[in-house]
Amino acid sequence: MPSLFSFNIRLILIPVFISCMVVEYCASNDLNQDFDITWGNERGEILNNGEILTLTLDNISGSGFESKKEYLFGKIDMQIKLVQGNSAGTVTAYYLSSKGSNHDEIDFEFLGNVSGEPYTLHTNVYTQGKGEREQQFHLWFDPTNDFHIYSILWNPQTIVFSVDNVPIREFKNMENIGVAFPKSQSMKLYSSLWNADEWATMGGLIKTDWAQAPFTASYRNFNANICNNNNNSCKFLVENLDPVNEEKLRRVQQKYMIYNYCTDNKRFPQGFPPECSAT
Ligand SMILES: *[C@@H]1O[C@H](CO)[C@@H](O)[C@H](O)[C@H]1NC(C)=O
Ligand SMILES: *[C@@H]1O[C@H](CO)[C@@H](O)[C@H](O)[C@H]1NC(C)=O
Ligand SMILES: *[C@@H]1O[C@H](CO)[C@@H](O)[C@H](O)[C@H]1NC(C)=O
Repeated sequence: MPSLFSFNIRLILIPVFISCMVVEYCASNDLNQDFDITWGNERGEILNNGEILTLTLDNISGSGFESKKEYLFGKIDMQIKLVQGNSAGTVTAYYLSSKGSNHDEIDFEFLGNVSGEPYTLHTNVYTQGKGEREQQFHLWFDPTNDFHIYSILWNPQTIVFSVDNVPIREFKNMENIGVAFPKSQSMKLYSSLWNADEWATMGGLIKTDWAQAPFTASYRNFNANICNNNNNSCKFLVENLDPVNEEKLRRVQQKYMIYNYCTDNKRFPQGFPPECSAT
């Protein structure tokens, strides 16, 4: 009996240990295990036994959550459904960030719009406290109708932003030309829904219509493949865009990019940042 018992235990438990410890692949399906609501009191909620998380914004406050864990390299996916209807003035931020003044940050920000007009997906990368690397996109679908997958791949060679598994932006490690790259500070995942009607929609011309409040964004199917201290076993540490995905990235940028700091002459009269000239 004891040997049979231990045999079974090994068969059943070892794969579980491996999948969650060597390469942390923790698709828990219970968002209570992964996140804490950290802002806005009851305006942020985890519902249906952890299946879905909602953030709301009303005329008093927005709301936000953060991950319980810190991450250092990996691939993080979340399905998000953005504020429906007239979402002008609202911003849903979804980002990885370390702490402190020299922090690193990898940002998605969704800027709302009046009904029928496109959301703007704003992206940025901070390294050692320095950002100013904005690229903005319109999406090829209405992000308020349904959930879509927003992903960050982060390894020592590259950072790739993807939407429904289509890469939209890559920030390569360019330390060889003196551009800092996030590779030593671990980050938490954060999201918040807030009012930014001084600047968000049409540059601040369109204000939040509080008659539409509360505004709600929803999250589900969080998936984190985390590499923390497991360099030898984490496949995402060596992943780079293959030629097919390089081509997809180029097409999306041609068709859907509406702002690129690397082509904004007015902003950089003294010359563009060094990473802009690296291909
Ligand atoms: C917020 O909205 C509620 C409900 O519409 C209203 O009763 C309240 O006066 C508003 N508060 C502020 C500070 O505008
Ligand atoms: C809102 O819609 C206008 C008009 O289509 C567009 O120019 C703008 O980029 C959209 N997004 C924001 C955040 O203003
Ligand atoms: C993993 O790789 C990173 C970047 O190459 C390096 O800084 C770090 O020391 C490595 N960690 C371990 C545990 O080997």
